[in-house]
Amino acid sequence: MVETETLNKVLWKIPNVLCLLGSRAGDEWNGMTESWVTQVAMEPVLVAASVDKKAVTNRLIREGGAFSVNLWPRSDTRVFVKFSKPAVKEGMTLNGRPIREGLTGVPIFEEAAAFIECRLDRTIDCGTHDLFLGEVVDAGFGPGGDEVEVARMEDTRMKYGGVRRGGH
Ligand SMILES: Cc1cc2nc3c(=O)[nH]c(=O)nc-3n(C[C@H](O)[C@H](O)[C@H](O)COP(=O)(O)O)c2cc1C
Repeated sequence: MVETETLNKVLWKIPNVLCLLGSRAGDEWNGMTESWVTQVAMEPVLVAASVDKKAVTNRLIREGGAFSVNLWPRSDTRVFVKFSKPAVKEGMTLNGRPIREGLTGVPIFEEAAAFIECRLDRTIDCGTHDLFLGEVVDAGFGPGGDEVEVARMEDTRMKYGGVRRGGH
């Protein structure tokens, strides 16, 4: 058995993006700080996001059948603190950040460096989390075009993952 502390430290070494995952079911809109996102297939292009079963976002993706990955400018990592609990929607903003409605109805953040909008293709039960696989329906860049560098976990002092506290 690997010691928990070692396993945590090793798992935290995996380089990850830090982004906002957009979701929506009817009148309920959300954005959430997310690090477990990656492309997993080329034909069709599938993007995977792993979401805690207890997160509001998990229910919204199941109900809404779609999600958006909003890659964020590296210069603005403060955003991730506020979006680690359910977001407050006022008009077309979430936690004060302007959004628009994507093709599938999910929020797309206007300030994102780049976005990927996905229709849910399948859901894989992974225990604590569900892995949502989405087929890309739209993608594009934000106001700064394709030159803007995107935020990564190592740009912050935050961590996510490793062994669940309390032990599993
Ligand atoms: C740096 C950081 C990265 C995170 N990455 C993920 C992730 O990849 N998947 C996940 O389910 N939760 C992740 N979380 C936790 C969620 O942001 C947090 O649990 C959120 O409150 C759940 O979202 P919701 O209930 O608003 O949908 C992360 C949190 C932080 C601070």
